[in-house]
Amino acid sequence: MSSGISRRNFFNKTISLSTGALLLKYMPAFGAQKNGIVPMIITSHSNETGQKAMEAGWEILAKGGTALDAVEKAANIIELDPEDTSVGYGGLPNEDGIVQLDSSIMDGKTYNAGAVACLEDIKHPSSVARVVMERTDHVLMVGKGAKDFALKWGFKEENLLTEKARKIWLRWKENMSKNDDWGPPDHLIDKAKEEAYWEGFPGEEFHYGTTNVLAVDMNGDVSGITTTSGLSFKIPGRVGDSPIIGAGLYVDNEVGAAGATGRGEDVIKSLASHYMILRMKDGRTPQQACEDAIKMIIEKYKAIGSDYIPSEKFVAINKQGETGCATTRIGNNPRMSVMTSKGFNKYEGTIKRKL
Ligand code: GLY
Repeated sequence: MSSGISRRNFFNKTISLSTGALLLKYMPAFGAQKNGIVPMIITSHSNETGQKAMEAGWEILAKGGTALDAVEKAANIIELDPEDTSVGYGGLPNEDGIVQLDSSIMDGKTYNAGAVACLEDIKHPSSVARVVMERTDHVLMVGKGAKDFALKWGFKEENLLTEKARKIWLRWKENMSKNDDWGPPDHLIDKAKEEAYWEGFPGEEFHYGTTNVLAVDMNGDVSGITTTSGLSFKIPGRVGDSPIIGAGLYVDNEVGAAGATGRGEDVIKSLASHYMILRMKDGRTPQQACEDAIKMIIEKYKAIGSDYIPSEKFVAINKQGETGCATTRIGNNPRMSVMTSKGFNKYEGTIKRKL
């Protein structure tokens, strides 16, 4: 099967001045590259914050720092963006209006992993996941236990619900059902007035937004993070794929890394990130591995006689500098942000909805 990706699709975006300066400054360090290893950092986010995150992560890699430090630094930047309603601070809350975050981290060099789920009031779940990984013999901590653990390690308790996220949630709550008492009295409902009342606060049904950050460092060590506020308006306590090692994230120091965003329920059932790594081990390119994982999920539903295609986006990298990205979503081709010694790029992947 062809990867469906040509050089045409790998287009350079403008390299910012700061990035250019970084490249000039740290390029010599890359003379030390060995065994065809290509240091890089990617995120499934393709917005401005994603670019900033890549530049910050690259600064670490370019100085010879670890992939682990690079992915944490980059993920922290995305987690702090208050405009991003899918990750960290500013993420959309659960159905009770409480932001519950999920995140995982994996370090290929040490074959170690850490994760947190349903974490409340802490802005950097990926950093808490790193402490779980490095300072405990556990992999996954959830809910109150995860929060208490974070507080013991000095993380600050902060309100994660921004005004924007709160209003989007309230609008969703009012529109949820005609059979409850949220919203104006029936005799006063006026569609035009309602639109004006909620102006600036989108009427979102739900979304599964998440980000993956994956990196290879100069030593050829691989690390990854997946971090999210999860399915918006979820039932309190729901855990998605992001903190499940093998589902929302997997790293193998021999091969590369893979991550998922989208409907977590199907990513958990398919262990899609681990599957992508196995495909790459079998010689598939990252692009082919992403498409294989989507095909696997579509096939499962076909096997039970359903045409259902869940909304997913997968990303993968290998240690030779190849990247992959595929989605089931109709619309524009999926993109991800990539930073290497050649600068910042947006990689365009494929849409796959057929076997
Ligand atoms: N992929 C994020 C979630 O389902 O929670």
